[in-house]
Amino acid sequence: MASKSGANALAEHWDFLRGLLASPKGVGAIAPSSPVLARAIAREIDPAMPGPILELGPGTGVVTEALIERGIAPGRITAIEYDPDFVARVAARCPGVNIIEGDAFNLRETLGHAKDQPFAGVVSGLPLLNWPMASRRGLIAGALAQLRPGAPFVQFSYGLMPPVPEGAEFSVERTALVWANIPPARVWVYRAR
Ligand SMILES: C[S@@+](CC[C@H](N)C(=O)[O-])C[C@H]1O[C@@H](n2cnc3c(N)ncnc32)[C@H](O)[C@@H]1O
Repeated sequence: MASKSGANALAEHWDFLRGLLASPKGVGAIAPSSPVLARAIAREIDPAMPGPILELGPGTGVVTEALIERGIAPGRITAIEYDPDFVARVAARCPGVNIIEGDAFNLRETLGHAKDQPFAGVVSGLPLLNWPMASRRGLIAGALAQLRPGAPFVQFSYGLMPPVPEGAEFSVERTALVWANIPPARVWVYRAR
């Protein structure tokens, strides 16, 4: 018989596949991020920097949970997710997180009053490579504009190169290469110049 945690992992993967079938472009992965990748993403967020944290595309909530384990109180996290079933799953998994059902690419409108305070970091699970370069660049520039000076925009991808190259507006560095993920993933940190 499957253990409780094994059964939970199976249910999570099954729910993720449901989301993938509903929106192949929006989900853009065959499995949720592994706990190792989720921790590598959360590590880039400094819990001591004041202000809320924004998560884009939390899916089943694995990165949300890693942020909480890193020491970010659930009430400090705002997450934007457009799939209503994932919204419900994150609400059940991480009570106290402010989850907005909406489009992360329409950031300022989707955030509403949540944008009134500068964020201390953004973590994005959006499969950016499925969007044209201009949309990716616009999303990152728009999110960086909502951040405190020096705060990071953290993105993972499965590609060798960052999803958006650095330029006049922002720098990018690779902070981790995570083999314990399907497929192996890189963690990129963008900062406004
Ligand atoms: C690759 S999954 C990542 C899920 C999770 N962060 C993880 O690491 O396992 C991408 C997530 O982004 C969500 N998503 C895609 N496009 C979105 C959009 N425009 N606005 C908000 N969420 C979006 C999908 O529904 C999905 O939950």
